[in-house]
Amino acid sequence: MADSNPVDTESPNHASGTFTIGDKTVHRLGFGAMRLTGKGIWGEPTDRAECVRVVRRAVELGVDLIDTADSYGPYVSEEIIREALHPYPDQVLVATKAGLVRHGPDVWLPVGRPEYLRQQVEMSLRRLGLDRIDLFQLHRIDPKVPAEDQVGELATLQEEGKIGSIGLSEVTTDEIDAARKVAEIATVQNLYNLTNRKAEDVVDYCTREGIGFIPWFPIDAGKLAQPGGPVAEIVDATGTSPAQVALAWLLQRAQIILPIPGTSSVAHLEDNMGAARLRLTKEQMAALTDAA
Ligand SMILES: NC(=O)c1ccc[n+]([C@@H]2O[C@H](COP(=O)([O-])OP(=O)(O)OC[C@H]3O[C@@H](n4cnc5c(N)ncnc54)[C@H](OP(=O)(O)O)[C@@H]3O)[C@@H](O)[C@H]2O)c1
Repeated sequence: MADSNPVDTESPNHASGTFTIGDKTVHRLGFGAMRLTGKGIWGEPTDRAECVRVVRRAVELGVDLIDTADSYGPYVSEEIIREALHPYPDQVLVATKAGLVRHGPDVWLPVGRPEYLRQQVEMSLRRLGLDRIDLFQLHRIDPKVPAEDQVGELATLQEEGKIGSIGLSEVTTDEIDAARKVAEIATVQNLYNLTNRKAEDVVDYCTREGIGFIPWFPIDAGKLAQPGGPVAEIVDATGTSPAQVALAWLLQRAQIILPIPGTSSVAHLEDNMGAARLRLTKEQMAALTDAA
C-alpha cells in the first residue's frame, strides 16, 4: 500500500490547496481518525476491516494530513492507522495528541503533567511506528499544571527530535499568546463549523499569524441542512451533499483552515473528499456565513 501511493496531482483532495506544517506541505482537506473506534470513542470499531480501508482510501484520494490521538480508543485509532499505512508514504503527516485520559466511553479527563506527556509521546511513537511525530498536539491544557510546563515539555521533546511541530487544542487567543512565549505553535485545533462559530476570533488570530487552524466536528450543518435552509438550497443548486457544502465553506473561509472530517465508512469519506472541488460563489459563501 505505502509504496503504491505516489502523489497524484489528479487526486480529488488536491484541489483543496496546500499548507505547510514544519518541514511538510500537506493538502488542506485532511482526515480525522477519531471515528475509527467503538461507541463513545471507546474500544474497537464495529467493522475494523472497513476502518483500515477508510484510511487507505483516504491516502489514495490524496489525503496526507491524518489527525488522531492516543485517547481515541484509547490506542485503537493509532493502531489502525499503523496497520493501514505503515511504512508510511513520505508525504503523509500523522498528527497525534495527548493530554486527555479515558476512564470509559465519552469520559475525557485532562492530565498535563510533563512526565505523563513525555510518556505518551514515547507510546505514540511506538504505536504508530514512527521515529518522529510530525505534529504533536496538546489535547487540552490541564488547569492543574502550569501551561508553560506542558508546552515546555513538548518544546524539549521537539529539541530532542521526537516531535516535529507543536499544536494546541481548544485554546483561547490569550492561551496561544502565552504558549508562543515558550514554543513555536504550528497549529490550533478548536471546535468550529457552519453552526458553531465560537472560535471565530481564534480563526482570525491564526489567519493573521499564519498558524494552521484545524476545525474539529467540521461537517456539522445542523438545522442549516434542513429543507429550505441555506445548506439544502446549495445542495440542490450544486448537486452536492450537506457535508460537502459544510467543508467547502470551511475551505473558503480562510486559507489556514485544515478541515479533518471523520468517518468510519468509505462511502462517507469519498463524499467528504468531493468538497475539495466544490467552489461556492460569493453569494453562497455570504448566505452560509450569515446563517449561523
Ligand atoms: N481536538 C479535539 O478536542 C477534538 C474533538 C473531536 C474531534 N476531533 C478531531 O476532529 C475530527 C473530526 O471531528 P468529528 O469526527 O467529531 O466530526 P465530523 O468529522 O464533523 O463528523 C463525523 C460524524 O459525521 C458522520 N459523517 C462523516 N461523513 C459523513 C457524510 N459524508 N455524510 C453523513 N455523515 C457523515 C460520521 O459518521 P460515519 O462514521 O457513519 O460516517 C460521524 O458521526 C475527529 O476525527 C478528530 O480527529 C478533535
